[in-house]
Amino acid sequence: MKKESVVQVLEQQQQVKQPIWIQNAAQLITLASHKKGPRIKEEMSDLQVIEGGSIWIEDGKIRAVGTMQQMIPICMPRAHEAKIVDATGKIITPGLIDPHTHIVHGGSREFEFEARIKGKGYMEILQSGDGIHATVKKTREMSEEQIYNDTALRLDSFLQHGVTTIESKSGYGLDLETELKQLRIMKRLHEKHPIDMIPTFMGAHVVPEEFAGREDDYVDYVVTEMIPEIARLRVAKFCDVFLEKGVFTAEQAERVLLAGREHGLMPKVHADEIECYGGAELAAKVEAISADHLLKTSDEGLQKLVGSGVIACLLPATALILGEPPARARHMIDLGIPVAISTDCNPGSSPTTSMPLVMNLACITMRMTPAEALCAATYNAACAIGMEEIIGSIEVGKQADLVIWNVSNYQKLHYMFGVNHVHQVWKNGVKVVG
Ligand code: NIG
Ligand code: FE
Repeated sequence: MKKESVVQVLEQQQQVKQPIWIQNAAQLITLASHKKGPRIKEEMSDLQVIEGGSIWIEDGKIRAVGTMQQMIPICMPRAHEAKIVDATGKIITPGLIDPHTHIVHGGSREFEFEARIKGKGYMEILQSGDGIHATVKKTREMSEEQIYNDTALRLDSFLQHGVTTIESKSGYGLDLETELKQLRIMKRLHEKHPIDMIPTFMGAHVVPEEFAGREDDYVDYVVTEMIPEIARLRVAKFCDVFLEKGVFTAEQAERVLLAGREHGLMPKVHADEIECYGGAELAAKVEAISADHLLKTSDEGLQKLVGSGVIACLLPATALILGEPPARARHMIDLGIPVAISTDCNPGSSPTTSMPLVMNLACITMRMTPAEALCAATYNAACAIGMEEIIGSIEVGKQADLVIWNVSNYQKLHYMFGVNHVHQVWKNGVKVVG
């Protein structure tokens, strides 16, 4: 039987017009901000928790937030109109945000997973024509409908784990037609699925086989043909590059990112994932919104990020799967670099849809505190996709994207790992899970 995504289910549902009054949460983790832009250092731990918290939602937006005592006089006169949601004994956080995914792709790579367990390296597999190339082949072959349906199911899984917005990269087409196919799928799912998808063009993911030995010709193709067309069609917000030894050099990556920026696409960088290769330095130079991975970044590279405005987007599930030491999150936070975290959901180096797992790993493997991990998966993640004005915290006027969790304090969320604690997920004031 064909599995049905929540997309089909929601199509039949009416939008809820009724106001919602969520009452009495053990902890309401608001992350209400005092400043613009990403949080750094101790700001990352300042979650602005309201005990006995309550939220009034109307027209998909948060209209009032406070303790039950503060909210009763405000909400009582209209309580009869509202749908009451009891959150006693539970915590509420902003909807989780995943700022780095490769969720739109054809097929899967469990055989590569097994080969890596038996000792093959990620780059060795890529250089032998498998890895990302295998997914490119599948993504080119499979129909748009098939990939759309498979991606919708992966999105459902994200939603079940409390994620309400994700960034999503192309990069498995490596020709204009297939890159556009991926970006079209994102647009369609953004419109149909409860999860918002923010698109990134990543034509410079690897050099496709038809350009083997002609790397600069491929970069020319990306810069002169792909980027102008992507920009003309307005199908991407960001431009990303896999800057890595044996993939793209810093010079090639810079050409791509500057061309993207000229066309209105904000730069992002896959930086120093496998080797230290100048990724952090380039991110600072081109004023990228984020530098992602940073597993092998040198002290000098990290210094370049300090005060640069670049957000370090860290992907601890990828480090785990690659068998590499995790990024130095503790050191980065202490230096004053803002940190976000992400699944990196992709069929090779991180086939997961679980942001709660990533939050656990951030604590366990990178020594981030539970408060820092929560900030990195909500407010700072919103900053890493330029959306902190509308999502990422529970504040009046923002989108009512919320998760109610079956735990009585936020530390438990990270401490009891490998468990899905989601009780309900609300997107734009509509209950979509639970
Ligand atoms: O972030 N490193 C490049 N891109 C992905 C992996 C993509 C794949 O293996 O399919 C990453 O690790
Ligand atoms: Fe990635």
